[in-house]
Amino acid sequence: PEDMMFSYRGISYPSIATSPETLEALKSFEARDDDVILVGYPKTGTNWLEQMVKELADAKYTEEEMKERINAEKKLETFQRLELGDPGVYERMKQLPSRRIIVTHLRADFLPPSIFQSKAKILVLVRNPKDTAVSYYHFSNNLPVSPSFDSWDEFFADFMNGKLAWGSYFDHLAEWNKYIDNERIITISYEELKEDPILGMKKIASFFGFSLCEEDFSRIAKNTTFKAMKEKSSETHGKFGDVLFRKGVVGNWRDVFSEAQNEEMYRKFQDSLGGTKMAAKIKY
Ligand code: PPS
Repeated sequence: PEDMMFSYRGISYPSIATSPETLEALKSFEARDDDVILVGYPKTGTNWLEQMVKELADAKYTEEEMKERINAEKKLETFQRLELGDPGVYERMKQLPSRRIIVTHLRADFLPPSIFQSKAKILVLVRNPKDTAVSYYHFSNNLPVSPSFDSWDEFFADFMNGKLAWGSYFDHLAEWNKYIDNERIITISYEELKEDPILGMKKIASFFGFSLCEEDFSRIAKNTTFKAMKEKSSETHGKFGDVLFRKGVVGNWRDVFSEAQNEEMYRKFQDSLGGTKMAAKIKY
């Protein structure tokens, strides 16, 4: 139904999670130089990255300090994504202790200006658009609060046209490509994290300046496998966990895409990103 979504500056968002007033208020968000900003279009593995980075950043804290940090978030009712919640959330976020880890699905041109004015570092997570689309399709159909699709073909058309919540993935990548040479920005792919999580985490840690030992990295790699996160999902994500932790693999698109859809998306990908550094980051 129509009222599940609303449009703001030409892009759809889920009405249950945010509002035009919140997206307006987001402009007033004040970034800190030590904020850790994590960006991923929906279904690129944002929750996985978030868990990894939280563990990497928190490795130096005692369990007590970690609990305090989590409790501060709960007490202030801040939300899991920067663009979600009530318009008052940005005022409350001022009271969160540093270092804040801020996660968003937004593209660069929709982020509040203070993020780019600050020295905050930004990690952009990318995933093969075909697997991203398949993940998004199952998620939309399995989540009661999001619009369902009668068929994969119908979903595919909406994904290609950017009609889904958070808009077009191709535009998202093209916008972030404009910042790819910025030294405060790093791009990491779902596929490289999957292939060698420890190497990926080492890149992330060195970019943000987290210092960890080998044992920390192997512990965190074990804690953040798909299986480990799925097992803990009812604790960490409630009912949402059943829908979120679906397969966690690379190449699931092969079960769903027709040959014609494969070619159509490849052309779209080339038209939007061909020859860019962003395209080179994505294992197509
Ligand atoms: S959301 O709702 O937009 O924030 O979804 P997001 O977290 O970005 O993406 C969900 C997909 O990430 C997979 N996932 C993982 N893959 C590998 N390892 C771990 N630990 C992991 N955790 C989540 C999740 O299964 C979704 O992908 P699919 O392909 O649907 O399984």
